[in-house]
Amino acid sequence: MTILYTTLLCCSLLSLFQFRAFAFSPVKYPQFHGPSNAASNKHRLSPLSSSSSSSSSATQENTEDPLEELDQTRKKNLYQCLLRDLQIEGVPLLECDAAQAHILQAALWTTMAELSDQDEGQKVCLVLENIGVDALRTFVDDFLVLKTQTRLMDHLPELQRFSINVVGKGAGPAMVIETANKTSTGSSDTQFPNYQESKVNAAMKSFIGRLVVSEQLCPYTKSPCKAPEGLEALNVKPGQIGYRYCGFPDCCHVLSSFWNCICEMLSVPDTQLGSVVLSMPAIGDNNKPNDKDHARFSAMAELISRSLCLFRGDDVFETLHFYRNYDRDKVFPADSPAHGHLPPLDWLRPMLRQSGNFQEADNLSDNDLRLSNYQRRSPFAAVVIKRVGHFEVLAGSANEIIDLELDDGRIEKASGVPTYAKNAIQLAMAGEQTLSSGLDSEVEMGRS
Ligand SMILES: *[C@@H]1O[C@H](CO)[C@@H](O)[C@H](O)[C@H]1NC(C)=O
Ligand SMILES: *[C@@H]1O[C@H](CO)[C@@H](O)[C@H](O)[C@H]1NC(C)=O
Repeated sequence: MTILYTTLLCCSLLSLFQFRAFAFSPVKYPQFHGPSNAASNKHRLSPLSSSSSSSSSATQENTEDPLEELDQTRKKNLYQCLLRDLQIEGVPLLECDAAQAHILQAALWTTMAELSDQDEGQKVCLVLENIGVDALRTFVDDFLVLKTQTRLMDHLPELQRFSINVVGKGAGPAMVIETANKTSTGSSDTQFPNYQESKVNAAMKSFIGRLVVSEQLCPYTKSPCKAPEGLEALNVKPGQIGYRYCGFPDCCHVLSSFWNCICEMLSVPDTQLGSVVLSMPAIGDNNKPNDKDHARFSAMAELISRSLCLFRGDDVFETLHFYRNYDRDKVFPADSPAHGHLPPLDWLRPMLRQSGNFQEADNLSDNDLRLSNYQRRSPFAAVVIKRVGHFEVLAGSANEIIDLELDDGRIEKASGVPTYAKNAIQLAMAGEQTLSSGLDSEVEMGRS
């Protein structure tokens, strides 16, 4: 027990950011500085400092009903028994003071990353008194569904060993995370590449710089270090773009890094950290691009988006997924919007028309339009995390949701149409030669 406890606290991921997003002992967390309109749901990834008000009123209601009270007592006894059984079994009980959904996610994925590193099966119990059973159940239910989805699990084999349950089906706020012994089939066979964080970040910075400066793809980003700019009139001050790094191929580590970035963004003011570029160079083999790696990237991206949306984190943050050989046609679902991805490429022509670019809609070839993929082709797999608040001030223009008539007559909701249309033209004008040589030199820059 002591050993695991210590490794969790010393986990390299946590020291990466020189602050601890969560702890297994009482620690006071910084207040959230985000928009306050998303506070209606108890476990939304937002601003709730604690859920004490709603849970105490629930308890009061319960005590008015003697039967309920009896049930509560029974439940409590059952819970205590189950915890004692686990302890007798030698399962470490880790107390975690997560009171908010993002800290819960960071704690769970970091714990899972620790377990995933070990070949031998393990069992730990996390006690989360401050967040309530509902949040735990939400996570567990979603994980159960995930494990049945072969479309994703085929590409995330390292999750196969995990089973996660709420203790006593929700008798108390604790969950058991268990792994089976590692088998050759049940693990990701991705090699652990030898990258240097500083070189990878320099390459990513160069990539962001090329897209936003040379290709002018984001009107509100003028350098790879600061965003958004030019919105001061709307009361949005530019914040630093933070470059973060996850060198592990394992998806539990990737998710752990992602949630630690979210915790970091929630713990500092916008101006200090406007957005984060989290690179994950161990996702995919940059030397031998292949479809299997693209499918793994795509599954990983979907897991990140799904994990963000689970507690409505998408109300507060937007994610954008990037990959060395990004190909929107290979992202599921190919013909409908996918969270964090470009719109389907055959929506581009209708988008060009919608935004009044009729000549380009007629003249640009399919190959020209396919160059739009380059706005997501970064030297390394990455996820960019932006604050939704920065987009909301633009509502009514760039972010407007409109009805888009597709070439086959279908009408679909689409947003960001003027931006995607403009980017499609911009990238088609740049041409494949320029775009691919720019990318190649960034890949080179990132090599150790
Ligand atoms: C897991 O591995 C350990 C040691 O390698 C072994 O003792 C144990 O029996 C294995 N468990 C299962 C279920 O195979
Ligand atoms: C598009 O094609 C038409 C005729 O095919 C031509 O007159 C026009 O200049 C072209 N426009 C662009 C932007 O290339």
